[in-house]
Amino acid sequence: MEKYIIVILALSFACLSLDAFEPSPLQDFCVADSTTSARVNGHACKNPSSVGANDFSFSGLHMPGNTSNPNGSKVTPVTVSQLPGLNTLGISMVRIDYLPWGINPPHTHPRATEILTVIEGSLQGDVFVFPVGLVHFQRNVGTVNAVAIAALSSQNPGVITIANAVFGSKPDFSGDVLAKAFQVDKSVVDQLQTIF
Ligand SMILES: *[C@@H]1O[C@H](CO)[C@@H](O)[C@H](O)[C@H]1NC(C)=O
Ligand SMILES: *[C@@H]1O[C@H](CO)[C@@H](O)[C@H](O)[C@H]1NC(C)=O
Repeated sequence: MEKYIIVILALSFACLSLDAFEPSPLQDFCVADSTTSARVNGHACKNPSSVGANDFSFSGLHMPGNTSNPNGSKVTPVTVSQLPGLNTLGISMVRIDYLPWGINPPHTHPRATEILTVIEGSLQGDVFVFPVGLVHFQRNVGTVNAVAIAALSSQNPGVITIANAVFGSKPDFSGDVLAKAFQVDKSVVDQLQTIF
């Protein structure tokens, strides 16, 4: 019994904290208006009389992303930036392509929980859930290209890629700080800062 109460409390807190970020919509739709200068949390709504079916669709996820980069992977996002009808709806999607041994490097989404499934090839796992804020990665462990589709619980999940954020920040973190934080020689930090 106690266990159930704890679970219910935990779920209620989870809902409360999510609501605090992306409240339930108070209208049937609020297509993002990219032309207005209004500053709101999210995007202002386009005039409903000029909303059309194309505001609710996107074409392009059938196309493989270009994986010729040091990660050996490419994320193709479908967030409110690509699909204006997602505004206020608290949901989005990505396609990820991976070369053999390609990685989507460790990163975190500040505003979304993610559920990912493998469509083609082999990642380390089949369906994954990444709770909001958790640092995660994927790697193609097969001998052919892999494709995954993921859904995220925000119209604008955000992404913080750890290596870029730590070693590529502008302005730089001081090399002494990073050397001490990562317990390595400063020359290692210098090298990483040149890469990122
Ligand atoms: C893929 O990206 C690489 C590196 O940026 C570029 O040289 C190449 O032309 C791109 N390929 C296609 C098909 O766009
Ligand atoms: C590698 O992937 C991360 C996460 O998708 C991205 O932020 C970063 O820009 C990518 N790096 C390169 C060199 O493509």
